[in-house]
Amino acid sequence: MAETKVKIAVLVSGGGTNLQALIDAQNEGVLKSGEIAVVISNKEGTYALTRAENAGIKTITVTKKKTGSQEAFEEAIEKEIDKAGAEIIVLAGFLSILSEKFTKKYEKKIINIHPSLIPSFCGQGFYGLKVHEAALARGVKFTGATVHFVNEIPDGGEIIMQKPVEVLEGDTPEILQRRVMEQAEWVILPRAVEKVCAQIANNK
Ligand code: GAR
Repeated sequence: MAETKVKIAVLVSGGGTNLQALIDAQNEGVLKSGEIAVVISNKEGTYALTRAENAGIKTITVTKKKTGSQEAFEEAIEKEIDKAGAEIIVLAGFLSILSEKFTKKYEKKIINIHPSLIPSFCGQGFYGLKVHEAALARGVKFTGATVHFVNEIPDGGEIIMQKPVEVLEGDTPEILQRRVMEQAEWVILPRAVEKVCAQIANNK
């Protein structure tokens, strides 16, 4: 096992159930090669921030409104990542698109969780419940979740892990979203983050 843990910055925008899955994985030893050093929210007062505070993790809020431009917003995030000494960035329900400048700087260092089996129901405009609405409208019998590296193409980076989930008769977008979270997202996100952290730690 690696001696020093890889520091992780988790970026969030909302409820933070995926962040919670990472916190639980850290406590249970599933995530052992990395540790969450900072949680950065692009929205004020999100429940994800409360989850981080409850776990004793440092939190910061960086909003586009306050920073003024995409560039200043990303620079402020970079500053916090550097300050925390984070080597990898996990987008756990972070619903703001990052520029090519940012994604190039952290090539193969940004991990995202998307609530479908990429390449289905992904890319610009597909986030949160919209993904599940689209899956139900198309009538697919299986959907799922994907963890992937982030590059300049929205949801276009290398796939790290995927897990399928069955769509059932009578599903609403909300019911399907919950099943995808429980059966796929909260399972594969911690495992994928551990995998990437272990690789980084072993190459040190
Ligand atoms: C999750 O379902 C996540 O996969 C999705 O937003 C939700 C956030 O929930 N992300 C995207 O749609 C990204 N395109 P959470 O805040 O409870 O983790």
